[in-house]
Amino acid sequence: MKLKKLALVFIGSSALLSCITAKEAIAPEELGIRKAPLEEEVVTPPPFEYSKTPPGQSQRFQRAYENAPPQIPHSIEGMFPITLNNNPCLGCHMPDVAKQVGATPIPPSHFIDFYHLPEGKAPKLTDIDKARWNCLLCHRPQANVQPVVKNLFKPEFRKPEAKERSVLHETLLEGTGLEKKQQ
Ligand code: HEC
Ligand code: HEC
Repeated sequence: MKLKKLALVFIGSSALLSCITAKEAIAPEELGIRKAPLEEEVVTPPPFEYSKTPPGQSQRFQRAYENAPPQIPHSIEGMFPITLNNNPCLGCHMPDVAKQVGATPIPPSHFIDFYHLPEGKAPKLTDIDKARWNCLLCHRPQANVQPVVKNLFKPEFRKPEAKERSVLHETLLEGTGLEKKQQ
């Protein structure tokens, strides 16, 4: 009699246990951040749009952190691909024209050849360093997409003006031993 009762309790509790495990199983849609079944490849990203505001009418973004490459606030429709013979960005951003069109001038760092820095040389160039020729490698237009994961990074700017412009030229050659040679 006692044994029978014990067996019943055992069966009962294992049924309860399996119930709990079934409830705790995580659906594939809840795994990770993609919120889609793992067996199906969802290839279509949500629709998004880049800024259509032409240069001269857009609002500059705050820098992501001190001396971060600024993001492109205006439309770049018709300005790419950047090729060896055609770089439309220069038409407005070269330091000698930038002021007239209200664009930010390309900073001094882009006119230095850093390739030979290990040999103690960083010559100033009269033209853009070819390693910087394709502006879109580092400067990107921005689209109105909600980030999947909220960015909690808070930049700190040592100088208030660094929120809007690069201050790298002030410290660019610090620690290279070339500071004096360049001046
Ligand atoms: C017709 C002139 C023009 C052309 C061409 C142009 N820009 Fe601009 N750009 C501007 C102006 C003007 C601004 C300032 C924001 C505004 O007024 O729209 C600006 C802002 C920027 C900024 C933000 C600078 C800051 O201080 O935050 C970046 C980065 C930039 N442009 C990159 C580019 C790149 C890369 C290209 C080529 C794909 C390009 N621009 C082509 C005129 C131009
Ligand atoms: C290898 C990455 C890289 C490439 C390529 C590049 N930049 Fe930059 N750019 C940066 C970084 C990093 C900064 C901020 C630090 C600095 O001044 O160098 C910057 C800063 C700038 C600024 C802001 C200057 C200021 O005073 O705030 C402008 C404008 C700019 N770049 C334009 C261009 C243009 C136009 C091209 C293409 C001819 C280009 N960049 C190519 C990385 C790059």
